[in-house]
Amino acid sequence: MAAIETHGLRKVYPAPPPPKKRGRAAGPPGMGGPPSAPGAFGAPRGEIVALQGLDLEVREGEFFGLLGPNGAGKTTTIGILTTRVKPTAGTARVGGADVTSEAVRVRQRIGVVPQRPNPDRALNALENLLFHAAYFGIPAAVAAPRAGQLLEQLGISDKAHAKVDEMSGGQQQRLMIARALIHEPQVIFLDEPTVGLDPQTRLSLWEILRVLHNEGRTIVMTTHYMDEADKLCDRIAIVDHGQLLELDTPASLKQRAPGGTLVEVTLAGDAAAIVDAVRGLDGVLRVEAKGPLLRVYSDRGGRVISPVIQIAEDNGAAVTNISLTEPSLETLFVSRTGRKLD
Ligand SMILES: Nc1ncnc2c1ncn2[C@@H]1O[C@H](COP(=O)(O)OP(=O)(O)O)[C@@H](O)[C@H]1O
Ligand SMILES: [Mg+2]
Repeated sequence: MAAIETHGLRKVYPAPPPPKKRGRAAGPPGMGGPPSAPGAFGAPRGEIVALQGLDLEVREGEFFGLLGPNGAGKTTTIGILTTRVKPTAGTARVGGADVTSEAVRVRQRIGVVPQRPNPDRALNALENLLFHAAYFGIPAAVAAPRAGQLLEQLGISDKAHAKVDEMSGGQQQRLMIARALIHEPQVIFLDEPTVGLDPQTRLSLWEILRVLHNEGRTIVMTTHYMDEADKLCDRIAIVDHGQLLELDTPASLKQRAPGGTLVEVTLAGDAAAIVDAVRGLDGVLRVEAKGPLLRVYSDRGGRVISPVIQIAEDNGAAVTNISLTEPSLETLFVSRTGRKLD
């Protein structure tokens, strides 16, 4: 049985209420407003289509990554799978239980680590764990030793009796992981767990996640850091605009990335004017122009840069910026969407 399965998952958020206009009498209904026109993805104007038919399958024991830029629909997906957000259409099962009709069963099987730590600030670290355990009906005699063990495992046992506000951001994040584990869930969800952490805390969190994974738990993590997804995940779903673009192991995804180094050159003028000339250069595999931006895939690394600059200047267009990216999940994402991850 799959740990998680979704079919045609769709989420449409209602339009936010229109801003109130002051000092003007409201006209009759249907008059004075902008003409009704479809918004993004054919939704009625103002509605936000966050997910447009997502099919996912996460295997038992898998470390699964949801990778995509801000606004891709990652948090919405996690929200639905953790029963906090109601899907507009489609189905999702977690540990065999349906997120809509069996929400209580789903909640017992999952642990959730939110993007921003949200502990109870009136309680100390240990009390946060015990309170959460009580919520799941775990007797104190079972919860107390388990809580102590988790604090130990996450390296914050010296903070057991500290108020949450006396803990650093990284320590609070670890407390959230301990809280997510206290009822021994099968599946753990983490939403962008390393955003805002310093590099060292980020690495130690990666270690903790690896240990949880080795213990055989199913982990679903969202991130917009491709290196994080690459290093940790067994498989990665790349999502954008609420749609699945790719789903595979990091190694296979990288093989699918267009060959060579991606050299991006920004011009003072339109890049389309020099595409043909650049295509003729030695070592150039592929060229695309998008407004002032020229994308060159090169199998000679950065050595194509100086002839590209020469061509641009011969065409009277100054080069204002240059960047270089090795073949990676990032170059795959760029080639699929025309945009960078962040
Ligand atoms: N509660 C909400 N109400 C209205 N729109 C929302 C809400 N939550 C998210 N959205 C919108 O849905 C889209 C997907 O958001 P989200 O799932 O948070 O993406 P991500 O986590 O990948 O950044 C975005 O356009 C976002 O603005
Ligand atoms: Mg998010």
